[in-house]
Amino acid sequence: MTTQESLISHDHAGPPTLSAGDHAPLPADAPPGAIFVARGLRYSYLDRFAALDGVDLDVMPGEMVALLGANGSGKSTLLKVLDGLVFPSEGTLHAFGHLVTEGNLEDEQYVEAFRSRVGFVFQNSDTQVFSPTVREEVAFGCLQLGLSAEETRQRVDDVLGMLGIADLADRAPFQLSGGQKKKVAIASVLVMNPEVLLFDEPTAALDPRSQQWLAELIVELNAAGKTIVYATHDLDVLEQIATRCVVFSEDHRILASGPPGAILDDTALLLSANLIHEHSHVHLREGQRVEHSHAHQRGGHHH
Ligand SMILES: Nc1ncnc2c1ncn2[C@@H]1O[C@H](COP(=O)(O)OP(=O)(O)OP(=O)(O)O)[C@@H](O)[C@H]1O
Ligand SMILES: [Mg+2]
Repeated sequence: MTTQESLISHDHAGPPTLSAGDHAPLPADAPPGAIFVARGLRYSYLDRFAALDGVDLDVMPGEMVALLGANGSGKSTLLKVLDGLVFPSEGTLHAFGHLVTEGNLEDEQYVEAFRSRVGFVFQNSDTQVFSPTVREEVAFGCLQLGLSAEETRQRVDDVLGMLGIADLADRAPFQLSGGQKKKVAIASVLVMNPEVLLFDEPTAALDPRSQQWLAELIVELNAAGKTIVYATHDLDVLEQIATRCVVFSEDHRILASGPPGAILDDTALLLSANLIHEHSHVHLREGQRVEHSHAHQRGGHHH
């Protein structure tokens, strides 16, 4: 599958302005040019269910950052904070050097700039897909951005072709399979050509062939200049599609951050984050039962 130039080129006509009422200086230790600078993020749902408990994160342009962690550790919540969908009760998030707050996102110019620069593919496509046809669904964001009907049609055709779902254009999104919905959700985000892509478990609903294809797409998008942050449980793809892994603990903090090779080799770290299991099981060796215990890695293969 070839990626369309028009959709992945890094052709932003200068950064849209992202200044609004709420200001705070960048933290003194923020690396220059960072896309996201998060410091001390805390968030609890309904003030009761902890999701983030003091999270610091910098994301630099061109990174492919994989968020790893057990179920409920806070990965989706962090992505929602990065996308300005939930707001931390403590701590600060700067995006493109500007503070992200609920108040700032009420500013029309700010929100337009922010939404055009950051795209988010949710974990559950059902909550993201709502139009009567796939074509309208994918066109929605372009029309929101104020693109002409002609430009929109061209981009929609390009992105549907790129994702191999042109044949679904006139179908109702809610009648599609899980993986098809996921591709429609990805198309609806890519069509807006944002420079930062947030994916929540991008490969989760996909068949093996589509998983591999998506991994290649992520690499291609990254090579075209996109910064990518995603949550995943798929340890097998990390060396292909992560430049850095960030590991959450079950108490909603960041345990470690580093290149995929170093993180994947750190069995103690992976065990403590509950990313691999210490598994007791039985082997039949030369007709004898041999019971042993060892760590399972990389998607939990069995032998
Ligand atoms: N809408 C919600 N209402 C209440 N609590 C929530 C809500 N969404 C998430 N939580 C809680 O916040 C914590 C973090 O959840 P989050 O969805 O960020 O985890 P995750 O790392 O993405 O997990 P998973 O791997 O299962 O997707 C969990 O304890 C979860 O129960
Ligand atoms: Mg999640």
